[in-house]
Amino acid sequence: MPSNETPPIVRRTDYTPPSFLIDSVSLEFDLAPEQTTVRNTIRVRRNPEAVREGSLELVGEKLTFISAVADGAPADVVVGEGSLTVKDVPDSVELTLTGVCAPSANTTMMGLYVSRGNFFTQCEAEGFRRITWFLDRPDVMSTYTVTLRADKVAYPVLLSNGNLVDQGELADGRHYAKWEDPFRKPAYLFALVAGKLEALEERVRTSSGAEKLLQVWVEPNDLNKTRHAMDSLIQSIRWDETRFGLELDLDRFMIVAVSDFNMGAMENKGLNIFNTKFILANAETASDVDYANIQAIVGHEYFHNWTGNRVTCRDWFQLSLKEGLTVFRDQEFTAAMMGGDENAAARAIKRIEDVRVLRQMQFGEDSGPMAHPIRPESYAEISNFYTATVYRKGAEVVRMYQTLLGRDGFRKGMDLYFQRHDGSAATCDDFRAAMADANGRDFSQFERWYSQAGTPRVTVTTRYDAAAQRYSVTLTQSYGHASATARPTQMGPLHIPFAIGLLGPLGVDMRLRLEGESAARETTRVLELTETQQTFTFVDVTAKPLPSLLRNFSAPVIVEYDYSVDELAVLLAHDSDPFNRWEAGQCLATRELLSLAARAAASQHLEANDALISSYRRVLTDATLSPGFRELMLVLPTETYLAELMTDADPAAVHAARQFLRKQLATALKEEWLATYEDNLTPGAYEPTPNASGRRGLKNLSLSYLAELDDPADAVRLASAQYRGANNMTDRSAALVALLNASASAGLDFGEHALDDFYGRFEGDPLVVDKWFAFQAMQRGTSQRPTVEIVRALMSHPAFNIRNPNRVRALIFSFCGANPAQFHAADGSGYAFWAEQVVALDALNPQVAARLARMLERWRAYMPSLREPMRKALTAVAEQVKSRDVVEIIHKALA
Ligand code: TRP
Ligand code: ZN
Repeated sequence: MPSNETPPIVRRTDYTPPSFLIDSVSLEFDLAPEQTTVRNTIRVRRNPEAVREGSLELVGEKLTFISAVADGAPADVVVGEGSLTVKDVPDSVELTLTGVCAPSANTTMMGLYVSRGNFFTQCEAEGFRRITWFLDRPDVMSTYTVTLRADKVAYPVLLSNGNLVDQGELADGRHYAKWEDPFRKPAYLFALVAGKLEALEERVRTSSGAEKLLQVWVEPNDLNKTRHAMDSLIQSIRWDETRFGLELDLDRFMIVAVSDFNMGAMENKGLNIFNTKFILANAETASDVDYANIQAIVGHEYFHNWTGNRVTCRDWFQLSLKEGLTVFRDQEFTAAMMGGDENAAARAIKRIEDVRVLRQMQFGEDSGPMAHPIRPESYAEISNFYTATVYRKGAEVVRMYQTLLGRDGFRKGMDLYFQRHDGSAATCDDFRAAMADANGRDFSQFERWYSQAGTPRVTVTTRYDAAAQRYSVTLTQSYGHASATARPTQMGPLHIPFAIGLLGPLGVDMRLRLEGESAARETTRVLELTETQQTFTFVDVTAKPLPSLLRNFSAPVIVEYDYSVDELAVLLAHDSDPFNRWEAGQCLATRELLSLAARAAASQHLEANDALISSYRRVLTDATLSPGFRELMLVLPTETYLAELMTDADPAAVHAARQFLRKQLATALKEEWLATYEDNLTPGAYEPTPNASGRRGLKNLSLSYLAELDDPADAVRLASAQYRGANNMTDRSAALVALLNASASAGLDFGEHALDDFYGRFEGDPLVVDKWFAFQAMQRGTSQRPTVEIVRALMSHPAFNIRNPNRVRALIFSFCGANPAQFHAADGSGYAFWAEQVVALDALNPQVAARLARMLERWRAYMPSLREPMRKALTAVAEQVKSRDVVEIIHKALA
């Protein structure tokens, strides 16, 4: 499609049920890399509940037509560019359609493709149509029988969904396997894998006593990196049984790892396919963050078996029905694995990390040109709507039901949801109705969370009447100064659960009694804000309290309240809600950093803030706080988050401010950082436990602060020893980054030596080579050697490969998305690089190209001197790109 034409738009309100249903599918594959023949036999029946249509239109893309047979006779079909139409279809018919696709020429990683010599599929959202002609929409559910035939030496393993029912030898060195999936499913959950793979196996008994076979399939050399994924799978199975009463329904559950993949992983029924990055781990090659991601994503895909597969989506506008809910479930799972379902302090670490990601990725999206409600109203390309909003804000919306109903009430709602919708395709409204009906609640106003884009603001004012001992809290909801594009329509006030506590004079929680209640109850209360403005009055308040607002981040909103610096310091030191303790620290740091950035932008002198430094010293030396929590408290807000808060963002000033404060903290707390480093060593074998990884996190944060000192000798000494002696990737990579930073500021090249050593040790391991690329892309860079030049040079490194999405993310995305000060260089060199790469990727892999394209969509939020070169780069790209994916993004950005 030429980019000057606007792509056709699909609208939510245009949904109509399919005119035909497909009850069963039988697929036969003759697998060969250049040409794979697919014989597809479907039992089609007219849908009694839909508009009658004479002909059946199936979709198919990049397929070569061979033949069509209807009930045993040649069929009358019209084969078009993206479709196959069967004329005059009776009420029921068996069709056999044969076509050919070209897996090795497929660089999009949608449909059937080849990766490192093996075959894989990716069908969500609309990839099945690249395999065969079909009703490729999620409300058409069928049972599948799949026969795979391939050369036995090249493809010894042949996998598909469900149960293996037959296998054997064929002529010419070929063999076959036949799979049957007993559960009806939409086409996007189909998968096949064929190649040279080996599995780690385990047998477990699920709650009903049934024995299940679990397998993690990888390339033979990677078998020693599968234990953590298997352990995570077993933990996920157990957790879903106890928390939601949901049992694994298949006799066999398989996970397969592939190194070429557009996203994290995919929940195909019984045959999850994962990016290797989220499966392979051992101490030497994977960091604590990798271990945590693997646990979360293995959980996420496993939990989809019920929320997504057993109950699927009626249409793609309902995507958050499965993704928001499943992210919520994986967040709850990980929080439970942090230290039990009931341990608030341990769970808070996970909550803080999740909110940090939400604010950084979703709030920005929600105030830019791609802003959409969690249930979008329209799209040109559905792949562009696998977004932070659908996933992460969607999870917050699900979490709000639990906050309003309690865990037990939420469970009742889930039970009713499965009772009503198991085995079918549902909508977000169905989920909301189940939550409401199971609990006798009216959630009609709650619907606005699904249809309203933009981040709501809740402004808080308080009034204490000492004589009457009354404390009133007035909450006002609005959309602040959010841009008009972020809120195409204003639906009226939202139903917002607003958790609040009141701290007494000694920083201790008061027991709360609202006006009209007979006695004081718990110390945290969930206020239900349903009007534009509401006042809640607490009685028997004997002293002026300090409010702790939106505890545990009970709603995805921005709170505005005029805390003094002293009040924030009290919350930081005393709040019983660990989330709000962290929040108070972040507020203090954010205020300081924004004021430093303003001074930096005006070339004014920057000065240290002693109060902030004292607060940080107290946190750092507070042995009652876990190391993991202290680490989170002491990480400054990211440059991206800070820039988001500025009008006319100035990435260079933000960078200068944050670096200044880091150096101040490094200098003022040098002795404390050194002591903390020594106190948090983790001798002995590597363990990826929350406790050990928390200690490593705090120790390595200390090292990173020490590397900021004017004289980084201590950091260099510690980092060199740590680099050489490390028995795990977390410590080795933290030491490498510290060496890179210290050597850049000292103008020396020992960072280069460490990088060379790192490459030499790990050049055979693609996931670690990705890290090596990413460290360099995220480097600070100097005026003599800006990072863009390093990145350009690395593009010609023999290990760079633009067809591998992980490598592209490691080098190109890390630079454009995670190195704001260098990417936004004043000369526009970063934008020119971005434009070249978007165009190159557009021709190879539109999904990956579109993700990169999004990195300039917020151009209007930047200072004028950057806005113009950004707009130029976008315009240049607009003229050259062709994919629907990238065209949609660039059009919206420039609109
Ligand atoms: N359903 C997958 C998940 O969230 C997402 C996914 C995997 C995906 N691969 C994809 C979405 C390719 C679009 C295209 O777990
Ligand atoms: Zn998902």
